[in-house]
Amino acid sequence: MSKQMSHLDNIPSTPGKFKMEKSPFVHNRLRWHSSLAKLAFWSFIFLALILIFFFRYPSSNPLPQDPSRRSLRTYNWGGPAWEKRVRSSARARSRNGISVLVTGAAGFVGTHVSAALKRRGDGVLGLDSFNDYYDPSLKRARQALLERSGVFIVEGDINDSALLKKLFEVVAFTHVMHLAAQAGVRYAMENPSSYVHSNIAGLVSLLEVCKSANPQPAIVWASSSSVYGLNTKVPFSEKDRTDQPASLYAATKKAGEEIAHTYNHIYGLSLTGLRFFTVYGPWGRPDMAYFFFTRDILKGKSIPIFEAANHGTVARDFTYIDDIVKGCLAALDTAEKSTGSGGKKKGPAQLRVYNLGNTSPVPVSDLVSILERLLKVNAKRKIMKLPRNGDVQFTHANISLAQRELGYKPSTDLQTGLKKFVRWYLSYYSGGEKAAS
Ligand SMILES: NC(=O)c1ccc[n+]([C@@H]2O[C@H](COP(=O)([O-])OP(=O)(O)OC[C@H]3O[C@@H](n4cnc5c(N)ncnc54)[C@H](O)[C@@H]3O)[C@@H](O)[C@H]2O)c1
Ligand SMILES: *[C@@H]1O[C@H](CO)[C@@H](O)[C@H](O)[C@H]1NC(C)=O
Ligand SMILES: *[C@@H]1O[C@H](CO)[C@@H](O)[C@H](O)[C@H]1NC(C)=O
Repeated sequence: MSKQMSHLDNIPSTPGKFKMEKSPFVHNRLRWHSSLAKLAFWSFIFLALILIFFFRYPSSNPLPQDPSRRSLRTYNWGGPAWEKRVRSSARARSRNGISVLVTGAAGFVGTHVSAALKRRGDGVLGLDSFNDYYDPSLKRARQALLERSGVFIVEGDINDSALLKKLFEVVAFTHVMHLAAQAGVRYAMENPSSYVHSNIAGLVSLLEVCKSANPQPAIVWASSSSVYGLNTKVPFSEKDRTDQPASLYAATKKAGEEIAHTYNHIYGLSLTGLRFFTVYGPWGRPDMAYFFFTRDILKGKSIPIFEAANHGTVARDFTYIDDIVKGCLAALDTAEKSTGSGGKKKGPAQLRVYNLGNTSPVPVSDLVSILERLLKVNAKRKIMKLPRNGDVQFTHANISLAQRELGYKPSTDLQTGLKKFVRWYLSYYSGGEKAAS
């Protein structure tokens, strides 16, 4: 029975196999005349149809709560009113303003970058899928914030080529700030396909549309410090090896850097990858330690503090969001034009990678001490061994390249930045009805 089922399951997806298994009936023509064989044959067909109906039908009808199927959601876009909104949001107000498509605009970094661009007079159009990797109501609140400053966020997926093409038809974007991605290191073990969907397939779809656009935009995108993986040489410099990723997330970001190289090489797209080091601040991401430590300390819940082998310190080069935003804007401003047109390369184009960090790693236990002082609550610390499921022991950026070429100079220490984060956190979640889950 179960063997038969799996055979039937294979029919639609392996037509070759289907043909092969049909052939015995064709060759046994002699037996065809026996009515007994005829009866057996038609009973078999009848049974097969019933089995197909009962076992295929439910599997082709995905349940909406299946996280790997989230990408199949459909969005409403198009129409004259929608196009008008798109155009007006993307129009620069200042004379030398650029027109930027910001993907992941309802995300943490995307919101801050979009607001900063709009503030200085650039045109900004957001694109975001509002997926539920973390509380979507926080993304909606960021959307409302951007809407007040005149930034429209189109709701859609970066892997939707038809939507991307439409956006480039409506607006001749000069730049793309690509921040949409599946972030998070440990979640990759739970939902690996979401990383492939957004960080690989989505990136390729975006670059395909960019290379065909006329004019081609210059692209700045978020890679990650996680590409340094198991590298032990510190501080991390751009030339260091990045071929030992410790998580699928890191592997997809590394793949993104290689894909960027290809599109630069073949199509003349101007591409700049930014390796962010643990970005934190107001409107931050609830899946990151500084954020859920704050929530759990306030709740009186114990917080896990990881320790490496031999009581080794786990440390992060925490980088404040305003410093990251300055780095992003500087990367956009120094990006040279793409050189191709109509999908053809005309000459060599710019290809860059920069670390954007803070250059001062802080042990995670110090992060907790700072939070205790700011929240005026003692944390219940639970020391645990660092699991080998993606997180590395420490990160430390060498930023001299970004300093030299982008004028990047981070100026916010962890104490100062966390103070701003905690102030935002308390005001955002005050009242209780919005209490972090
Ligand atoms: N925050 C950090 O510490 C950090 C560190 C290194 C790299 N990065 C990278 O920086 C970028 C921004 O990170 P963030 O912290 O703002 O994360 P975030 O999750 O807050 O923002 C990403 C946004 O992209 C959207 N998105 C995801 N997949 C999408 C898809 N297929 N189509 C359309 N939208 C999609 C999400 O809804 C989300 O709003 C990401 O590429 C991330 O990998 C962040
Ligand atoms: C992304 O889009 C392409 C082309 O539209 C599609 O073939 C592919 O299945 C999509 N990939 C994922 C992982 O969703
Ligand atoms: C930092 O990177 C630069 C290259 O940008 C390199 O010359 C320098 O030696 C690096 N510094 C350290 C301490 O590794």
